[in-house]
Amino acid sequence: MRKKIVAGNWKMNLDYSEAKALLHDLIKLKGKFGKDVEVVICPSSPYLAVFAELIKDQNWLHLGAQNAYFEDSGAFTGEISPIQLKSLGIKYCLVGHSERRDNFNEDYALLAKKVKALIAHDITPVFCCGEQLQVRDSNVYREFVMKQIEDSLFGLPAPEIAKCVIAYEPIWAIGTGKTATAEQAQEIHGLIRARLTSTFGEKIANEVPILYGGSCKGDNAKELFSQKDIDGGLIGGASLKADEFCAISNSFV
Ligand code: PGA
Repeated sequence: MRKKIVAGNWKMNLDYSEAKALLHDLIKLKGKFGKDVEVVICPSSPYLAVFAELIKDQNWLHLGAQNAYFEDSGAFTGEISPIQLKSLGIKYCLVGHSERRDNFNEDYALLAKKVKALIAHDITPVFCCGEQLQVRDSNVYREFVMKQIEDSLFGLPAPEIAKCVIAYEPIWAIGTGKTATAEQAQEIHGLIRARLTSTFGEKIANEVPILYGGSCKGDNAKELFSQKDIDGGLIGGASLKADEFCAISNSFV
């Protein structure tokens, strides 16, 4: 049985006191989040150490980082290594979010190294993929997304692929309020699952959670999560409101 996951990507939002207030609001909702759903929050990196302390008794809530470098340590000013994240007990790390691909020129080869390094240190990479609006409109979006996945993930041996989470986030839906329809999302999720199956076999393909991201909210999550290959969501804006994030976690049918 694949994990159901709802992960909040807080991006570069909230100052320290606002972030702690949101964490407290989430903790107050303990017991109200979806049953059997892995709840993850990815706050800004400087908050991770304190958050790890604050949630050490909350075994239902997990921390993710928004980024990591692939080297273990050394002269890489400004970067954070998987070993450092591991030392804080961080369980997940986003890789290849479109905002990092676009703003920081992260390419498929770098992303492949990051994924490998995270797995080596037992942190689950949440590998993001997704096409721009012009790619969607030009109708080559299927090949585009498959190539993103193949280039960065398919060099992994099967047991390592089984340790990944994939997030399909069409860029035209991120932060725009324009969600992909459940059918549009399922089409890509189904293709990803099929490609995983043909490359790594059915058992492995059935273990990899595939999340949807892009203007996913309390009022559209149910329809999206009802699709057979959508195993949860990577939530941006709506994860900054505790109630809404909680409602999303209760949207599995
Ligand atoms: P959004 O962001 O939910 O605000 O569209 C999703 C993401 O970028 O991960």
